[in-house]
Amino acid sequence: MHGPSLNLLGTREPAIYGTKTLAQIDAMLVAYGRERGVEIVTYQSNHEGDLIDRIHAAAAEKCHAIVLNPGAYSHTSMAIADAIRSVATPVVEVHLSNIFARGPERARSLTAAESRGLVSGFGHESYLLGIEAALRITRVPKRRGENPSRRRGAKKPSSALARRPRS
Ligand code: DQA
Repeated sequence: MHGPSLNLLGTREPAIYGTKTLAQIDAMLVAYGRERGVEIVTYQSNHEGDLIDRIHAAAAEKCHAIVLNPGAYSHTSMAIADAIRSVATPVVEVHLSNIFARGPERARSLTAAESRGLVSGFGHESYLLGIEAALRITRVPKRRGENPSRRRGAKKPSSALARRPRS
């Protein structure tokens, strides 16, 4: 799940955030999930309330984990922090940049404080590491050889979450 202005990845401050577009990153995450036997659904919004609604929906959908880059809302949004607190679904916060190396205003994350953990500073790899962390902490048994996207009745991807297919 990606927060504000992450839709502009690729052209937004490439020296800090890299040159991959959000679509390229999302495709990479979905492919990685497929390799690992999990369904990854992706979502981006520039709006605080929409991100909150998607966190609630992910919990209602019984997603196994949420991998969340709240963007600048990390540093300001008590409302997103409260949404994270409000659901049992574990949240792994990720940042492309190292937020601790970018000045005091970015060195505090209200949302990370309510998340299970934080991956920050590895560019787009932060998302993969975040998914890896989500898989490890959720400990859902791995099922070999299943392609979740081919499951009957599989929901169309609409948010950024690691979800094990259920039988
Ligand atoms: C970011 C870091 C935030 O401080 C910034 O506001 C972003 C991107 C990152 O991924 O490095 O929007 O979340």
